Amino acid sequence: MADQYAYSGDDKRPTEIPAIRWEEPPEGPVLVLLDQTRLPAEEVELVCTDAPALVEAIRSLAVRGAPLLGVAGAYGVALAAVRGFDVNEAADALASARPTAVNLALGVRRAQAAHEAALAKGGDVRQAAAAALAAARQLHREDAEASARMAEHGLALLDELLPGGGHRILTHCNTGSLVSGGEGTAFAVALAAHRAGRLRRLWVDETRPLLQGARLTAYEAARSGMAYTLLTDNAAGSLFAAGEVDAVLIGADRITADGSVANKIGSYPLAVLARYHHVPFIVVAPVTTVDPDTPDGASIEVEQRAGHEVTEVVAPQVPVAGAEAGGGIPIAPLGTQAYNPAFDVTPPELVTAIVTEEGAVSPVTAEALAEVCARSRRV
Ligand code: MRU
Repeated sequence: MADQYAYSGDDKRPTEIPAIRWEEPPEGPVLVLLDQTRLPAEEVELVCTDAPALVEAIRSLAVRGAPLLGVAGAYGVALAAVRGFDVNEAADALASARPTAVNLALGVRRAQAAHEAALAKGGDVRQAAAAALAAARQLHREDAEASARMAEHGLALLDELLPGGGHRILTHCNTGSLVSGGEGTAFAVALAAHRAGRLRRLWVDETRPLLQGARLTAYEAARSGMAYTLLTDNAAGSLFAAGEVDAVLIGADRITADGSVANKIGSYPLAVLARYHHVPFIVVAPVTTVDPDTPDGASIEVEQRAGHEVTEVVAPQVPVAGAEAGGGIPIAPLGTQAYNPAFDVTPPELVTAIVTEEGAVSPVTAEALAEVCARSRRV
């Protein structure tokens, strides 16, 4: 396919603001987020001084993506503790800010448990807050380490499945350093392939309605100097039909005990297309995204989001006077109802492999998944 559709990849600005960081200015500790609703137009930081501000940042997707939601949730508990708010109340509000990504509640409960354990041992409120913060920092570090190991395992799997090299990879939503303490999940694998000189093209689905692919993945790919091309979600079928996709790489928000994968809406149709065209469909996610307590896909709570995200085009950097509630540009008659699930569920039989930091699971079975998760608990 003609390369004039490819971005040349020379938009590498020198500074990189991390997606999340803890700071302790004289006025008191804060959690600083790179506001993802403003990318790629502006790199703007959002400073949270309390848990309600973080809950709002999570709901508005200023901070997003399963692994980073876990890290953010843990820091949110630490923030409430350090600033003397009710920790349990903050933890409940944070854990329920979005329902689908299992990492959010996991991160929150981990910091909350560290806080509780410190109090139970006779520590004072300052020591308990320090314990919550240490737990958040530890989770942040672990996520970065997991990301590096997923990239290694993922690249090895790609090389095994596609021995010719020159991988043309299709990805959906956003799974890079904006969602992780490290370089991400699926995107980290593509990046490893790029660094090894084996990525021919990253096909980036725009990811309607909130355009995480166009706004965020393209931003990350450009900064990494990758050869990438953006497509509308509904162009994916013709791309497969043209034989231009060697593998699909996506992340996950929750993987159930039977290996069903909840991920950004539009992932399931890609899995169906991949199966029809005999293309590997690979899910990359840390073990923390596997939820043994959710038995199967039908048991996953899929977040339903506001209709205005569909009836308006998001243009966060361009406030439009007189627009509907979302502040975007209306593209449907006023009052139009919209169907707007944030995620869909891909059944395990359509997933070629699940790559975790503990190795790849293929074929995807409940037993193999449980075994890989047990490996991480053994360390
Ligand atoms: O609604 P979002 O933007 O938080 O959805 C994010 C995704 O669906 C990602 O693909 C998923 O969290 C995996 S990120 C490593």
